[in-house]
Parts: sequence; C-alpha cells; structure tokens
Amino acid sequence: MEYRHLGKTGIQVSALSLGSWVTFHNQVGLDAAVQSMSAAYEAGVNFFDNAEIYANGKSEEIMGAALKKLGWRRGSYLISTKLFWGIQDGINEKNTLNRKYLIEGLDNSLKRLDLEYVDLLFCHRPDPSTPIEETVWAMHNLIERGKAFYWGTSEWSASEIVAAIEIADRHHLHKPVMEQPQYNMFTRQRFDVEYARLFKDYGYGSTIWSPLASGLLTGKYNNGIPKESRGNLPGYEWLHDQLSNQNAIEKIRKLQVIATGLGVTLAQMAIAWCLKNPNVSTVITGASRVEQVLENMKSISVVEKLTPDIMKSIADILGKEQLPNLE
Ligand SMILES: NC(=O)c1ccc[n+]([C@@H]2O[C@H](COP(=O)([O-])OP(=O)(O)OC[C@H]3O[C@@H](n4cnc5c(N)ncnc54)[C@H](OP(=O)(O)O)[C@@H]3O)[C@@H](O)[C@H]2O)c1
Repeated sequence: MEYRHLGKTGIQVSALSLGSWVTFHNQVGLDAAVQSMSAAYEAGVNFFDNAEIYANGKSEEIMGAALKKLGWRRGSYLISTKLFWGIQDGINEKNTLNRKYLIEGLDNSLKRLDLEYVDLLFCHRPDPSTPIEETVWAMHNLIERGKAFYWGTSEWSASEIVAAIEIADRHHLHKPVMEQPQYNMFTRQRFDVEYARLFKDYGYGSTIWSPLASGLLTGKYNNGIPKESRGNLPGYEWLHDQLSNQNAIEKIRKLQVIATGLGVTLAQMAIAWCLKNPNVSTVITGASRVEQVLENMKSISVVEKLTPDIMKSIADILGKEQLPNLE
C-alpha cells in the first residue's frame, strides 16, 4: 500500500480506501462487512468511509459492529462520516448544514458507530440556505470538542470551498481540508478543471468516490444489467441510464483491450488511472464481495504500468465527452 498526505495535513491516508455506500446493509451484512474490511486492512487500507444517510444509519451500525469484532487498535485506522441529508423528518434535520443538526447529527452517528470520534467529517453537500459561516463555526466546534479531527466538503463548488476556507482563516478556525468528489474516467471535469486551483493554491486534499462509475468501468454492464449487481438493486433504477450508456460502453470495450494488453483487469486499470492523479489523496473503492476487494487492492501495482504512452491511449479513447456528474 502507498500512503498519501490528506492535502496539506499531517494525516496520511492509504491511497486505496473502502466505502460502504449501497453495499453495507443492502448487499453486505455484518459477517461480509468484517470480511471485506479485514481484507482491505490486510492490504494496508487505513481509511473506511461512511455517511449518516447510507442505508439510513444502518451502514454506520454495521461498520461500528464490524470494528468491534475486528478489534483493531483505534490509532491504526481512520473512519469518516458525512452529514447533510438527515434521516429524521424534522424541519431542521433534512438537507441542511445548520449548527443544531450538525452537532446532534454527529452525536447520533457516533452512537451508531459506537465510537468516541470520527477522524474525518464531511458536509455531504453544500446548503445554500445556511450561511457558510454558521457551518464553519459548527464544524470548528465539533473538532474542538474532540468529536472529529479533520473536516471537509463533498461536491461543494470551488467558490463555496474557498469561501469556507477564508471564513475559517479570518476567525482562526479549523479549516476544511479535503473534498469528496466523484472522479473516474468518465467524470473528470469538476476535479480536473474546477478544483485545479484548490489543489494548487490551497493544498486541498481529496477522497474521491465511484472510481468504477458504480461498476460500469469493470465491463460487467457491456451486455446489459447483470442480476447480481448494483444496477439490479431495487431503489437504484436511477443508475440505469448511466450503466447502459452505449457511448460509454463502446469506450469500455476499447479500454478493455488496453487492460488485457497490460495483463490486468479493467477495474484495476480504472482504479490505477485515478491513482495516477497526484491531486487524489485516496481512491475510495466500493465492493459487494470480498473477491472484489482483493482484485481492487492490486490496482496499486498497476499504476507503474500506466506509462505516458498508455495514458495517452486511454485519453484518446475517453475523448472530451463525459457522463453527467451524479452529484
Ligand atoms: N460523497 C459522496 O457523495 C459519495 C457518493 C458515492 C460514493 N461515495 C463513497 O465512495 C465509495 C465508493 O463508491 P462506489 O461504491 O460507487 O465505487 P465504485 O468503485 O464506482 O463501484 C463499486 C461497485 O462496483 C462493483 N465492483 C467493485 N469492484 C468490482 C470488481 N473488481 N469487479 C466487478 N465489480 C466490481 C460492485 O458492485 P456490484 O454489487 O454491482 O458487484 C461495487 O459495489 C462509497 O462506498 C462511498 O463511501 C461517496
């Protein structure tokens, strides 16, 4: 495993990490979660990503129970959660980053995770109806109380992030230090263009999501939606357009030829492609079974195979066209 600093911070994250969106509770119960987390940890993963909204809190409960079973030393791993959508129906508890929700929301997440603190805390989306200043203060207060160590954003615009950094600077508060955006071969615009100055001028960190575009970049959707896949889960019909996009599938068939030539799987090449970008602090992988974890972890050794010539061939296939960001 390779470890990278989370932006300019002193903390180091494994270049590959493991997240629980869709999988925990819907596809992965406690025993399977223990297996997947254990396989990842054995491969050197030190960061496990979660969110309050994943399976309406059940994903946090499963991860918390898995951590109990695994019994790892708390200093040896990092856990995140993310707040915004809320899982209660109250007027102040949905689609918000107000102070009351953030402080109560994190307390509730910590109960479900059965942890005293999370290492990374994200504002899962921007909230245009709460002043950024209120959110920055609340996140600062949570860090001061020892309930989180670092805070960041997820799918905020670059200008919202800069506004938060500047407010924090002005008041000597803990600044946001990392963003969690979608980034993969088919979704690059925001990361590569909009965020370029965040990385260069502010040393912002990044924990990128959906490196396989929800599994599309494995080639498993080339001939339709397989029964045993995320694309076939009830409630995920909204992914069908992406997973059956014929332009993307045409490119995937060409990318597969390159992967085969390198002697690696397409999934490994797609993950290694993300790792090639020095602005990526960690690639959050997802897996519904342990075999996928094992396959994906090997992507680390694929990075060196992505020579400038290979990267150019990949870029030529990808072209300018991209899938819409699922944010
Ligand atoms: N901040 C945000 O808004 C946000 C949004 C989304 C995700 N995330 C984070 O990012 C993490 C990763 O996102 P993601 O799950 O969408 O990642 P992904 O890598 O794009 O998709 C993972 C899915 O692809 C399939 N897969 C993975 N490896 C495979 C392999 N080697 N061969 C065949 N199929 C494979 C599995 O689905 P099947 O069940 O179909 O096999 C797996 O669950 C999430 O867990 C979450 O922590 C954050």
